[in-house]
Amino acid sequence: MEAESSNSLQSIRYKRGRLQLLDQRRLPLETLYLDIHGATDGWEAIRDMVVRGAPAIAIAAALSLAVEVSALDSFNGSAADAASFLSNKLDYLVSSRPTAVNLSDAATKLKEIVMKAASSASEAKAVFQAYIEASEVMLEDDVASNKAIGSYGASFIVQHLKDSKKVSVLTHCNTGSLATAGYGTALGVIRSLHADGLLESAYCTETRPFNQGSRLTAFELVHDNIPATLIADSAAAALMKAGRVNAVIVGADRVAANGDTANKIGTYSLALGAMHHNIPFYVAAPLTSIDLSLASGQDIVIEERSSKELLNSRGGLGEQVAASGISVWNPAFDITPANLISGIITEKGVITKTKLDAFDIKGYVEKICGGH
Ligand code: MRU
Repeated sequence: MEAESSNSLQSIRYKRGRLQLLDQRRLPLETLYLDIHGATDGWEAIRDMVVRGAPAIAIAAALSLAVEVSALDSFNGSAADAASFLSNKLDYLVSSRPTAVNLSDAATKLKEIVMKAASSASEAKAVFQAYIEASEVMLEDDVASNKAIGSYGASFIVQHLKDSKKVSVLTHCNTGSLATAGYGTALGVIRSLHADGLLESAYCTETRPFNQGSRLTAFELVHDNIPATLIADSAAAALMKAGRVNAVIVGADRVAANGDTANKIGTYSLALGAMHHNIPFYVAAPLTSIDLSLASGQDIVIEERSSKELLNSRGGLGEQVAASGISVWNPAFDITPANLISGIITEKGVITKTKLDAFDIKGYVEKICGGH
């Protein structure tokens, strides 16, 4: 993989035939883009956290395969062979990280497109072309979707403010430009509040052990001149008790049909704190983060990552900081139960609870999109 330096908040750089990913392990000290030549490079970049964040993972995976097939000089097989080649590669890419549903959702949609193309095309080339075009649409659609999340979220939060005119918001992990094709989900809501002059201040947690908050979210907030303060994860409850935040907004890796939400480890603790202090707790995520096949969060697979992320500084990238010989439990995500969530902010609007104090996400999706 060759590398190139630049000053940018763009995690995914793509032009047909060329994909570069910003190596997020090096931020905030260095901005370096890695060239991704195919699905194997894509899989490794996702597993090794070069690129992370549910929407960015899905798009990077899809485009890594697009550059691989763009570079094929010839393909020895029929249109149906091309479809099964793509389908197998997509299954492989999905195996890179298990929790975010966006990746498997993208793979399922892309498989449907290539199967359809194979049924009408006579040559493999046409199937590859259909795949490349569909993966490029995913990149284009994501920014528009995030801007819509930002704008729905900002107006909803402001409408539901009790007394103050401006809002201070606490967020967790990184859900910004670096976690998406641009703008961000929960961080998109913060960007939108700031753009409308409605943000008093943003607070971001460090987000141990990988420090997506201190390394990435803090970097984005400073880059955009958004008034912001970094706190240790363990300072969140004290911040709430001090009355310094009006809302908590986080992203999602997978939202079950009842609203239970898998997100970065520590999200559940924030939701418990918010409930105790009577602070609204919002999840901001595109509809592609919703998994209607799961009735509740109980069946969401939680990725467990290397003990090195805790034993060594900088989420495993630096020197040893923990006592040798200690055993480690390192789940990358946790499940926040729906009863702790005030609303789910999507690109189509905010999903709130029904009279029965529960989310009817299936009903919402059917009404808004006619299913998805
Ligand atoms: O392990 P990560 O950095 O991929 O975890 C990311 C998160 O938990 C984000 O909150 C989530 O993917 C939403 S990103 C818009």
